[in-house]
Amino acid sequence: MAHPRVEAVAGEARAAIGGAASSSELESLRVKYLGRSGALTQILKSLGTLPAEERPLVGAAANEAKRELESLLDARLAEALEAERRRQRERARPDLTLPGRRPPRGSLHPLTRVRDEIVSVFMGLGFSVAEGPQIETDFYNFEALNIPRDHPARDMQDTLYLGAPIVGGTWGAHRGTLPEAQVRAATLLRTHTSAMQIRYMKTFPPPVRIIVPGRVYRRDNLDLSHTPMFQQFEGLVVGRGITLADLKGTFEAMLRELFGDVKVRLRPSFFPYTEPSAEVDITCQSCRGSGCGTCKHTGWLEILGSGMVHPAVFEAVGYDPEEVTGFAFGLGMERVAMLKYGVDDIRLFYENDLRFLEQFPL
Ligand code: DAH
Repeated sequence: MAHPRVEAVAGEARAAIGGAASSSELESLRVKYLGRSGALTQILKSLGTLPAEERPLVGAAANEAKRELESLLDARLAEALEAERRRQRERARPDLTLPGRRPPRGSLHPLTRVRDEIVSVFMGLGFSVAEGPQIETDFYNFEALNIPRDHPARDMQDTLYLGAPIVGGTWGAHRGTLPEAQVRAATLLRTHTSAMQIRYMKTFPPPVRIIVPGRVYRRDNLDLSHTPMFQQFEGLVVGRGITLADLKGTFEAMLRELFGDVKVRLRPSFFPYTEPSAEVDITCQSCRGSGCGTCKHTGWLEILGSGMVHPAVFEAVGYDPEEVTGFAFGLGMERVAMLKYGVDDIRLFYENDLRFLEQFPL
């Protein structure tokens, strides 16, 4: 039944269909051979132009080839679609042999670490931890700490007041002329954790052995070593027969724990709420004491302020300065962290930049 004219086209189509690799290729072969202007369709359309005796032969052969190619295409298409679906399913199936993705792990902020370390040193020394309000009154932050009315720290340039009773001018300028009670009650953001010394002693009788971690605020512009909010640690020890030797021994224990093998020295200083007052230095962490730019070639770095509690402070809280003595100290947590980890810009602690924080893995 085959006819050479039909067979030329059918043979080519069979080979192409057999070699097609995808459903879309098969669809275009269907168009190419069996479509409206496909090769086989052309033969059927041109039957009228053939000599009468050839027409039935070519027509029968072409129709047969058309049916054959259609069923061949259908079969191959079914196969191809099945294979394509299978591949699709395989792609979608999770590969259980892949290693799992680790969730990103957080770590403690360097300041949290420093705080935890200091707390644990002092817990070991028998201290307890007290925390106080960040909004304070003039009384706790200044007056009871023996800080005089005209002390520069009280100026609005340094202290952030909240709802200060401003009378036609700046709070600083009018403070001296305001009624006593109004000044004492003025609210402010505490400028140091020392305010908590007063709260604690007014609430509890001696002996006292506390540390107070907390945020403090000052009117400072941001720079390498200043942020308007920073964190301090206050310490207060009060009892019978507490001396400067206890103060020095306590600092040595704390600073060795924080910094390893360092020397500690006391330098005379002044704070209104301590007498005598001392600033405490440790061996410079950059040069180990030989002198460098960090320590201005002294070999020492200032780390905290301290002193023996001033009798006027005891009187303000109702303790008897004839009965008890004590020492107090304050240190900046950022400063400790900067020295300990070699950080040279305080702002890094508050920017939450992961590139910085990731350098402190657990
Ligand atoms: N309050 C001081 C400051 O903020 C630090 C300080 C110095 C605290 C001496 C004290 C102290 O308890 O005795 O800089």
